Amino acid sequence: MQKTFLVTGGAGFIGTNLVLALLEQGHKVKVVDDLCAGNIERLPAEVDFYEQDIRDTSALVEICKGVDVIVHLAALPRVQFSIDEPVIVHDVNVNGTLSVLEAAKSAQVKRIVFAASSAAYGDQETLPLSTHLPVAPKSPYALHKYIGEEYMRLWSELFALETVSLRFFNVYGPHFDPEGPYALVIGRFLKLVKERQPLTVTGDGEQTRDFVHVSDVASAIIAASHSETVGKGEVLNVGSGIETSINTLAMMIGGTIEYVAARLEPKHTLADISETKALLGWEPKVQLAKGIADLKKEFGFN
Ligand SMILES: NC(=O)c1ccc[n+]([C@@H]2O[C@H](COP(=O)([O-])OP(=O)(O)OC[C@H]3O[C@@H](n4cnc5c(N)ncnc54)[C@H](O)[C@@H]3O)[C@@H](O)[C@H]2O)c1
Repeated sequence: MQKTFLVTGGAGFIGTNLVLALLEQGHKVKVVDDLCAGNIERLPAEVDFYEQDIRDTSALVEICKGVDVIVHLAALPRVQFSIDEPVIVHDVNVNGTLSVLEAAKSAQVKRIVFAASSAAYGDQETLPLSTHLPVAPKSPYALHKYIGEEYMRLWSELFALETVSLRFFNVYGPHFDPEGPYALVIGRFLKLVKERQPLTVTGDGEQTRDFVHVSDVASAIIAASHSETVGKGEVLNVGSGIETSINTLAMMIGGTIEYVAARLEPKHTLADISETKALLGWEPKVQLAKGIADLKKEFGFN
């Protein structure tokens, strides 16, 4: 059934991919983005675009009229920036999320799907990471994402607003931004190869990550926006369910490797996606080798 979606942060990396997938399925799409990081040129003309800060609740209430589902992606997602500028980032990530919830409540939007993060787990002893483990945020950003989940759960309980939070793992794919000091590892590697520089691997490179393709993230969001089995503040993992070491990733991308000092970061991440599969009937489809090969083409090399 055709629905009207509002995607906050819809001009960003995940947002752009999601918007294209929603339009392809025949849904109507509104986007709110203040363009502090997003790029409006990537959005097709049929999108109803509002250059707007999510913290302006009254403007959001107007935009939310007639909306069935909000996908709340807008955030300042850089971990180091959240450590350097915790007050600014808290305001967008926490107060901004509350503003979206309040607007949804006023405009009687049925459901919100919230972009949570695997960062909430911190460094855990037990793998795979299950949503039943206690959280251990290691940065303001991770804490903000966890607070967002709790706000979602609470607004479902208090106001019968349907909510579901999806903890994304390491997302990669088209429209990925490799620039900037906090670019994620795949983007950083691709940029280094293009510049004919060695790939800088931190520590021994045996740390592992769960890389999930953005098209699989988009399909999980869409499944969560329709599913009858969720809507009460559930928290679900969205990863590939496969661990890949940074050394393996560097080999897939190709080029020489230079080992540099280890960073303070979790040794391993791996999503337990059994509950997500069971509740949403969702399955990740894109294999890392294929996703990387496609990205290399997008970046203009093989
Ligand atoms: N990319 C990942 O690997 C990953 C992993 C876990 C969680 N997430 C979450 O997914 C969401 C989307 O991530 P992304 O990688 O697409 O990030 P992104 O930075 O590409 O997109 C975020 C968008 O939000 C917009 N925005 C920021 N502040 C805003 C404000 N005050 N008002 C309106 N718009 C604002 C930006 O302009 C940008 O277009 C974020 O909430 C992030 O925390 C991403």
